[in-house]
Amino acid sequence: MAAAATFEFTRRLQLVSDRDVERLDDHFLAPARAFDASRLGDDLLFPLEMTWFHGEPIWHELSEAQRLMLNRLTFCQSYFSTAVAEAATNTLNFQAALQTFIREDPEVALYMAREVVEETTHIQSFLIVIRKVLAHYGLGLDDLRRANVSLSLSERYVQAHSLLGWLRGNLDYYYFTRFPLNVNQKTVERCTIDEPRMHPGVRSILKNHAIDEARHMQMSRATGKVALARLGLLKTPACVGFAHFAARLYIGRHAKDGALQRGTRTNTLALVGVPIERARQAYAAWRDRTNQPEDPPLVRAGRRYYLRQMNEYVDELDVAPRLRRYMQRVIADGYADVAADFARPERSLEFEDLTRS
Ligand SMILES: [Fe+2]
Ligand SMILES: [Fe+2]
Repeated sequence: MAAAATFEFTRRLQLVSDRDVERLDDHFLAPARAFDASRLGDDLLFPLEMTWFHGEPIWHELSEAQRLMLNRLTFCQSYFSTAVAEAATNTLNFQAALQTFIREDPEVALYMAREVVEETTHIQSFLIVIRKVLAHYGLGLDDLRRANVSLSLSERYVQAHSLLGWLRGNLDYYYFTRFPLNVNQKTVERCTIDEPRMHPGVRSILKNHAIDEARHMQMSRATGKVALARLGLLKTPACVGFAHFAARLYIGRHAKDGALQRGTRTNTLALVGVPIERARQAYAAWRDRTNQPEDPPLVRAGRRYYLRQMNEYVDELDVAPRLRRYMQRVIADGYADVAADFARPERSLEFEDLTRS
């Protein structure tokens, strides 16, 4: 049980979770049920500057009502993707819990199972809010899903890790890849909470979510390092895989975008009323930085934040210096827009500790 002993930290995380778990309903479902989309007024649901296509020529072609709708649909897409990704991690967490119950420390397995309970409530509350926002615009979840072609990425993520987990008998590689997902989600969520025009009810749900997720992220960070040590001969390929995976996760726009993310953003612009051809053209101009070579300050700060967190995490990994440099180079390649002048003093994101509201 030597390896299991190194997962000791889950006991501390479990104690923190124990304090909150009985209030999941108060923290998530009650405010989601109380949310009334017909009273949104001018409130936003996503950081203004992080709204897809913000500041682009197409943004200026939209009416104020359409810009608000695009902001709220960006929230719906982002949080529906988050909900689906949380369902994906639940699948893997429980698979890992199953193996851990049988072969390792059952207390660790119980903590993984606890994360599943928390994520299930998160997913439920997001869906309640998303459905209400969509209904306000005469749309349904099917319209959102049809537009969000990138959801299948979560399915592939589960399939790939399940297969590897089955072959290896554990989900160490899955645990090694969780941290970048957490950081990506955290960056957007904390900026959403800090958005001055944010709807207060949805803000409080997201604040409670960020508190749970901060603990999930501690789990990912600590588990990732233990998992890497357990990967043995697969350590180097795992690190290469990690770097490419981390380089492809992004907020805003990304030189290494994928067809599915591209489709989702284009289709969402079309839902706002932009003809699909114009939406495709607007997407290409946005991604290629034709009109705004630099991102809006908040997006740029978010991308710098993600890159900094990845660099720090890779610095902490027990790997050879050459491999470390390779990993950081691959990630920086995906983030060339902020990596080139990374040392330049610039607005960076600083997040204070959150407390329950
Ligand atoms: Fe969550
Ligand atoms: Fe989580």
